[in-house]
Amino acid sequence: MKLVIIKRFLLLLVALSLPAAASPQQADVERRVEALLARMTLEEKLGQLQQLDGEANGNYRPEHLDLVRKGLLGSTLNVRGARRVNELQRIAVEQSRLKIPLIFAFDVIHGYRTVFPVPLGEASSWDSAAVERAAHVAAAEASAAGVKWTFAPMVDIARDPRWGRVVEGAGEDPYLGSVMAVARVRGFQGRDYSATDRVVACAKHWVAYGAAEAGRDYNTVDLSERTLREVYFPPFKAALDAGVGTFMSAFNDINGVPASANPFTLTKVLREEWKFDGIVVSDYESVRELINHGLAADDAEAARYGLGSGIDMEMVSRTYNKNVPRLLREGKISQSVIDEAVRRVLRIKFRLGLFEKPYADEARESAVVASRENLSAAREIAARSIVLLRNERETLPLGKDLKSIAVIGPLADSQKDVLGSWTGDGRPEDAVTLLAGIKTKVSPNTTVAYAKGVEISGDSTDGIAEAASLAARSDVSILAVGESAEMSGEAASRSSLDLPGRQLDLVKAVVATGKPTVVVLMNGRPLTINWVAENAPAILETWFAGTQAGHAIADVLFGDVNPGGKLPVTFPRAVGQIPLYYNYKSTGRPPDPNNKYTSKYLDVPVTPLYPFGYGLSYTRFRIADLQLSARSIGPNGRLTASVEVENVGRRAGDEVVQLYVRDMAASVTRPVKELRGFERVTLRPGEKRRIEFALAPEHLGFYNRDMRFVVEPGAFKVFVGNNSVDVIEASFDVVE
Ligand code: NOJ
Repeated sequence: MKLVIIKRFLLLLVALSLPAAASPQQADVERRVEALLARMTLEEKLGQLQQLDGEANGNYRPEHLDLVRKGLLGSTLNVRGARRVNELQRIAVEQSRLKIPLIFAFDVIHGYRTVFPVPLGEASSWDSAAVERAAHVAAAEASAAGVKWTFAPMVDIARDPRWGRVVEGAGEDPYLGSVMAVARVRGFQGRDYSATDRVVACAKHWVAYGAAEAGRDYNTVDLSERTLREVYFPPFKAALDAGVGTFMSAFNDINGVPASANPFTLTKVLREEWKFDGIVVSDYESVRELINHGLAADDAEAARYGLGSGIDMEMVSRTYNKNVPRLLREGKISQSVIDEAVRRVLRIKFRLGLFEKPYADEARESAVVASRENLSAAREIAARSIVLLRNERETLPLGKDLKSIAVIGPLADSQKDVLGSWTGDGRPEDAVTLLAGIKTKVSPNTTVAYAKGVEISGDSTDGIAEAASLAARSDVSILAVGESAEMSGEAASRSSLDLPGRQLDLVKAVVATGKPTVVVLMNGRPLTINWVAENAPAILETWFAGTQAGHAIADVLFGDVNPGGKLPVTFPRAVGQIPLYYNYKSTGRPPDPNNKYTSKYLDVPVTPLYPFGYGLSYTRFRIADLQLSARSIGPNGRLTASVEVENVGRRAGDEVVQLYVRDMAASVTRPVKELRGFERVTLRPGEKRRIEFALAPEHLGFYNRDMRFVVEPGAFKVFVGNNSVDVIEASFDVVE
């Protein structure tokens, strides 16, 4: 088979989407970087490569004052708040020899003070404009508080829901992940991240952190270069093409070489192939952890590996400062490697405009942070992120004038948990719980009563009888169950995906009353909820919906918002099925229920509980008449797929129309489906619209046996549907 290389086409695509950073001011920035670099001592250079942690409450540490004065600190993390930032910055800018401003970094992951849904939740909106807006609000608040660098977006692909950090990303799919990566980078950075309402973003964790074996955080990773390039790299590349200013290296090792000392990923791919010229910061102490990995024998070797393979700034551990001077004298590290790392740090500081505007505006901070406008954006986006998983006999939406509603469950009135993990500067006291949201929503004649039932974890069932009796006395029960905020996020892997503690017993007791019951899930990962999925009349997946959670969920429960979110991750039936993802390979023996000797399990179906892309609505949609603009195209060719979507129900609503492709026979086995386009549309009852998707080489190609990106001649299938399973299809050929 003749292989057609389309590198030139890809280069063109890259050129078309060049970041704002490559503007005319670029030359000026480079001139200023060189002029400053020429004046720096070795100590001052290494100072710029050091980032240190502040105190948990957002203050700087006393030791920072002296380091900054001597020019030995380039950046802090967690120091925030205009006044504190300005105090430390003033020392850098007025008292240090070269007056180089500090850059203040912070994990602004899904909001600063106004907390938006966790990233997995936001990705469930399949709405890049909404996600961009959320990131913009987060950037505006953070920037007002003096934070000009966020450690987000996390763009790690996660195929294993045991891994707690699945909550921080956009789920399992490289395409959806790329769209969300771009939206977040644009939202944080805008066209110019020196603007008052923007910050510089950080694509993390480079790379393959989400592939930690067995879903155990920080664990080792072994993956082929093809899987890296096709599954794990794309959201990073998308972030880079959107102009992301910084990257963070990951904790894990990749095929035997830690990501924080990996010349292949850090230098060959990131710098040589992708031409990234911004900062790579290590993750927290990941340079010194090279010793634990068994790569470096001591701090000096860790520094040599880290700096030598392309980690420009060291987070928290201090191996560079202490060891690089000697390494330089001994010829183990070159002056040019040090200078290049310093250039990258200074470049971002210049691009951020820190030399011109080093200070935060204390008056602006209080006006911007948690403004009414930001809160209403958070509510709207939270509602768009909610996924309706089940709705038997139109249990939902509920009437606002019911006589009595029982609100039950350990998550129904928890302000802390709805914020999820990484809450930035968010405060539980700002958060609206489900109970509060429902009380605000219903008519004055509706009685709303609350029973906790059980704790999130633990063995006590003492409260179940009382909760069930409340349910029996009420018209409807709304049952909030799931995980606590700390059960997902960093260092929060789980070996079981069941509802923790005795929550399932609570659900069973409430459902057994026979009264209409709505299960509202709050969780940071897919859960194995088979019993609930079969027996609860209605289920809403709300993830951790943020500061405005209660209002947003009530908007959906009572029909002011018709849910339109879709799952960005597969829900397995059993932990034993993991990893379970929609873009799997066919195998030589595709699963066949009538044939034992096919790829499946004896004790659980091969299918998921809920597939990737799944989600219902209060109305129904029909997707039909899939048309392709051509029956065959050349390897560099393009075509359009179009499909008709119609609201055939009785309410206005949103549908996410999804397009997948499959290369039917290729020199390398290909996934059974790959998402290559989607659109969220709003339609009135009876309204019909034709939606078009462009298919280009970038959507059809793959990395061949020589690791070149190619489109191979042969048959392709196109699938369109409202999830990854329920699809209609058409075919076309790529011909020489
Ligand atoms: C460790 C986490 O892995 C990373 O995502 C985060 O940005 C840093 N800590 C800084 O808080």
